Amino acid sequence: MRLIILGPPGTGKGTQSRMISEKFGVPHVSSGDILRENVSRKTDIGKKAEIFMKKGQLVPDNIVVKMMAEILGRGKYKNFILDGFPRTINQAHELEHLTEIDLVMNLESSEKVIMERLSGRRVCSACKAVYHIRNMPPKEEGVCDKCGGRLVIRDDDKPETIRDRLKIYQVLSDPLIFFYSQKGLLREIDGDQPIEKIFGDIVKAIKKGDLA
Ligand code: AP5
Repeated sequence: MRLIILGPPGTGKGTQSRMISEKFGVPHVSSGDILRENVSRKTDIGKKAEIFMKKGQLVPDNIVVKMMAEILGRGKYKNFILDGFPRTINQAHELEHLTEIDLVMNLESSEKVIMERLSGRRVCSACKAVYHIRNMPPKEEGVCDKCGGRLVIRDDDKPETIRDRLKIYQVLSDPLIFFYSQKGLLREIDGDQPIEKIFGDIVKAIKKGDLA
């Protein structure tokens, strides 16, 4: 199963990717998580990427493509759920040289829902588990259920940065969606629904595509 999850910031790509990964035993490969890990380890990639990520801008294609080519090109992943990559038409073309893709899920959400989801998101500073103060609260406020780590707000989840991320997504997503729809790989999913409903629609699309 080689899946891509597309969608605007905060639509639930990471949440759904983790659920698919758990149900079908397929690795979740998130370009955002990999970049954030590089930032926290202060690698060369991390130092360059941090400048763009803090402002809610995309990391330049040459940096991201090289990073993802190293990961996907090692032959480590025969199956995967790609979350956050590709994000530009150029990245989609580069991905064509690295691997085949079976299905692309496009999660669409309204701006109002996105603002609510991202402003309430909290992330564990230790194990990176994701919560929401209302929709998916931890048992104890500010503390991760899984590892006891401190829950924090992601650097790019400030309202003004969220708006910039959304604007960038709106400009770049149309050619990407068109590209995969022309290939017959695109499946539209209503991202405004509750988590379990979205997951149900994704599982149906996976089964219909004979991928599980
Ligand atoms: P990335 O980490 O990919 O961020 P993003 O695309 O902006 O998406 P998010 O992680 O913010 O949201 P999500 O859709 O995963 O939602 P989540 O499941 O957490 O990228 C970050 C940055 O890295 C980019 O801005 C860029 O700088 C750089 N980058 C990454 N990839 C790049 C690339 N390919 N090229 C260039 N630069 C790149 O859910 C959000 C919240 O809502 C959570 O609190 C969750 O609990 C809650 N929630 C989820 N689903 C539901 C639901 N159905 N109902 C209610 N609540 C829900």
